[in-house]
Amino acid sequence: MAGSLTQLMKGADGGLALLQVLAENSFDSVLITDASAGNKIIYANKAFKKLTGHDPASVIGSSPRMLQGPGTDAKVIARLSSAMKTGSKFEGKAINYKKDGTPFIMYWRVLPIKTGKKIIAWVAIQREGSVI
Ligand SMILES: Cc1cc2nc3c(=O)[nH]c(=O)nc-3n(C[C@H](O)[C@H](O)[C@H](O)COP(=O)(O)O)c2cc1C
Repeated sequence: MAGSLTQLMKGADGGLALLQVLAENSFDSVLITDASAGNKIIYANKAFKKLTGHDPASVIGSSPRMLQGPGTDAKVIARLSSAMKTGSKFEGKAINYKKDGTPFIMYWRVLPIKTGKKIIAWVAIQREGSVI
């Protein structure tokens, strides 16, 4: 199965088309940052708008840090920062804030995208979490 999917996606723009369909239609929020440009947001999907209230186009060029505020657990963010320094994945929960200021529990994963050994981007999968 995986073998045939890899085979199918090798052609032309197949891989990108698949990623776009998955990200655009995901029930979870998807955020992608450019690792070579200070981890500014280069992509946010429709579910990101549903979760945070921010229009995807309006957050391009910003840092996901914009979701944080006074209630955000600094220890969780420090854990994310050290995972990113070592190129490893992160999973955690912290208080974030919607566009209108409403706090909510963000439950998210951050994973590196590499070409060879170089990290070119980070991808986050995000949803509202119930327990901290
Ligand atoms: C792809 C990606 C998604 C992120 N998503 C969130 C998020 O949803 N909520 C959050 O509080 N921080 C998120 N962050 C963390 C901040 O962007 C930033 O890395 C963190 O605040 C540590 O950097 P700083 O010390 O400069 O603030 C995300 C980071 C990346 C790379």
